[in-house]
Amino acid sequence: ERMAGHLPTCLKGLDNALCGGIPFGVVTELVGPAGIGKTQFCLKLSLLASLPSSYGGLDGSVIYIDTESKFSSRRMIEIGYNSFPEAFHAEGMAQEMAGRILVLRPTSLSEFTDSLQKIRVSLFQHGVKLLIIDSMAALLAGEGVQGPQRQHSLGWHISFIKSVAEFSRIPIVVTNQVRSQSRDEISHYSFQGIHWAHAVSIRLVFESRSGQRFIKLAKSSLSPPLAFPFNITSSGISL
Ligand code: GTP
Repeated sequence: ERMAGHLPTCLKGLDNALCGGIPFGVVTELVGPAGIGKTQFCLKLSLLASLPSSYGGLDGSVIYIDTESKFSSRRMIEIGYNSFPEAFHAEGMAQEMAGRILVLRPTSLSEFTDSLQKIRVSLFQHGVKLLIIDSMAALLAGEGVQGPQRQHSLGWHISFIKSVAEFSRIPIVVTNQVRSQSRDEISHYSFQGIHWAHAVSIRLVFESRSGQRFIKLAKSSLSPPLAFPFNITSSGISL
């Protein structure tokens, strides 16, 4: 059986820098501008977490929190056929893979937290190997209260998400959109609170320079930040 501690991403350099891939038991944040490929990356991760281990996957289930209706099972299956042709040409595999990915569309952060609270004890036992929140901002926007109360509420929910990762020992991946690639904006893009920065263990910054897309490993004990090039093709995110 393969190492249970990381979900490999298919980007070799990134996996090496992350000591094997997206780690279990912590929150990993994907930040970047609109259209850079955060959702495409999440679709690939979903496939990698749910593919049978004989094809290099983690043989698990995935909970995909789709807050902006951007999840496309059609696109996911296309990526599957092109990235893992052997697996996907096996009888019934496309349907089976689709069945392993549970897409939820909660209408508020509270609704999401309530459902997570009910299942958090059994996530790992039920073979959930990945939880994706795409995107976080849309979930938070729904929290009605303003001012300090809002801060308190967001802080509580964010700490809860972190505790679910620790308790259930699954990787949690959340996406967040930033308008520009300025460092300032990214560091201030913390929902005006310290909670968020503290809840996130790894931050992958998606950006584009001279027409080439990169993923930068921005928050880790490694310094300086490393950048890994990627493309988006019919196989999804690839080198
Ligand atoms: P926001 O959610 O708006 O913040 O963006 P995002 O970072 O999630 O972007 P997303 O992952 O949706 O990536 C969009 C990009 O992926 C597009 O600009 C296309 O370049 C690429 N893309 C999306 N669908 C396809 C597809 O079916 N085929 C190919 N080749 N590329 C695609």
